[in-house]
Amino acid sequence: MTQVLCVAGARPNFMKIAPVMAALAEAGIAAQLLHTGQHYDAAMSDSFFADLGIPRPDHHLEVGSGSHAVQTAEVMKRFEPVLESVQPQAVLVVGDVNSTIACALVAAKRGVRVIHVEAGLRSYDRSMPEEINRVLTDQISDLLFTTERSALANLQREGIDPARVEFVGNVMIDTLYRNLEHAVPSVRTLGATLAQYAVLTLHRPSNVDDAPTLAALLDVVGEINRTLPVVMPLHPRTRGNIERFGFTAKLDGLHILPPVGYLEMLGLMRDAKLVLTDSGGIQEETTALGVPCLTLRENTERPITLDEGTNTLVGPHPEAIRRAFAEILAGGGKAGRIPEYWDGRAAMRIAYKLKDWLPMPKGVHALSDTRIV
Ligand code: UD1
Repeated sequence: MTQVLCVAGARPNFMKIAPVMAALAEAGIAAQLLHTGQHYDAAMSDSFFADLGIPRPDHHLEVGSGSHAVQTAEVMKRFEPVLESVQPQAVLVVGDVNSTIACALVAAKRGVRVIHVEAGLRSYDRSMPEEINRVLTDQISDLLFTTERSALANLQREGIDPARVEFVGNVMIDTLYRNLEHAVPSVRTLGATLAQYAVLTLHRPSNVDDAPTLAALLDVVGEINRTLPVVMPLHPRTRGNIERFGFTAKLDGLHILPPVGYLEMLGLMRDAKLVLTDSGGIQEETTALGVPCLTLRENTERPITLDEGTNTLVGPHPEAIRRAFAEILAGGGKAGRIPEYWDGRAAMRIAYKLKDWLPMPKGVHALSDTRIV
């Protein structure tokens, strides 16, 4: 009998599901893995399974790309019969992508318990598709695992019973620690030695779907590149828009790479002078690595990276980016510290909790404290 059906769909899910699958296996919990196929390119999906030793998915929905409605609906349509045939005790979803809400919704409506890993993060910016996915997934989840303590207050504000919430730490950081010694040295990924460099990732619709915003960002990156070489692994969405808007010349002089695998990215970040990004996960990974991060967004759903980590919000504003960059070059930039429970044991805490929780009847949450510290 399958106890937990785990779901992963897009690149940022894979490094979260990897330690969870491993911890469930270690705890003797029978789990299966389902890949929705939201991300399907070898560089966006297969390489992560290989690098992180994620078991081959038991089910693959092969939904591919589409508008939000099409993608979410396709996942839902294709997930339902799988759920029916597997009949798990619970469905476990991670993060905030379209696959997360789609599978959570199907499970909740079929009366299957939903477990959300990385619950309670809030940017309070509903123009982000991920924010909508987070709020809705949390509302219909039975058990919510959080990565930082601020998440509980967010959830309580939305009427979620704290008995359903468990602070376990950050499973993505479990993956980071587990793989740090296998990180590919940056010199190999770059094919050259750069004494110092910055890494840039850009893929948020708010930054890359709007031509003037993308132009301004690429221009300021071009300026930075004259002082400190900029390495940019290009997300397919961003590459497509740069071509469509006729901005290819703005990449001249930058070290452009295709999307890189997990171990390459880890090596690139570890060896970088600083990272510029609009990703959610990279804000956390740079905090764990102690590398300064300039986040090209107006807000973050991961405030601990600002309060305790190495993260600074600069938005898409050239002046703020220039100023923060100059500060880091002059020896500033946050050193930060490692947040509570970002210790490589988050997935194990999840598995311990599930061992007690899974056999309980639906709707019962309060438990003796099984947390291991
Ligand atoms: C998705 C997630 C986002 C996450 C990001 C990481 C949602 C709402 N967004 O955004 O939270 O940070 O993944 O990458 O779920 N494409 C390919 N090959 C692929 C996948 C995508 O070429 O393997 C192209 C397609 O043209 C597609 C576009 O990238 O239309 C966007 O993909 P999609 O999954 O819709 O959103 P992301 O921007 O990747």
